[in-house]
Amino acid sequence: MAKFVKVMDSENLPIGKSAIIRIGEKEIALFNYKGKYYAVDNKCPHKGAPLGEGRIEECIVICPNHEWRFKLETGGSLQNPELRTNVYPVRTKGNFLYIGLETDSRTAFGKDPSKLPSNLNFNISTVQQPINPDETL
Ligand code: FES
Repeated sequence: MAKFVKVMDSENLPIGKSAIIRIGEKEIALFNYKGKYYAVDNKCPHKGAPLGEGRIEECIVICPNHEWRFKLETGGSLQNPELRTNVYPVRTKGNFLYIGLETDSRTAFGKDPSKLPSNLNFNISTVQQPINPDETL
């Protein structure tokens, strides 16, 4: 079961903005697309460009580097059905946004949610403007 961690005040992420959030070793791109929140790994599975700085069309994030496309809902690649980026559930409670972190053995945080590091370092490094002016998120 995912452990949800509080990441930011939703007022700081209005429709059409994205934020890159550092949680421990992870970097997660969080988007407010048309009033719904989506979180994916910030690092593009191709060559690591920041997906949080990509533009969005039709609920698909487009990597700023070589324009590979990933569905925000599933993380699936449109170019290669075998390829995907991790997606994370997002919840709201009060004014705050929470991201669910994977807690299985393939992640840095280990199997047991209680092993989540107590000194998680949150760093909301950027809040982006939408790059594609034709697309209102
Ligand atoms: S780094 Fe993202 S498409 Fe190449």
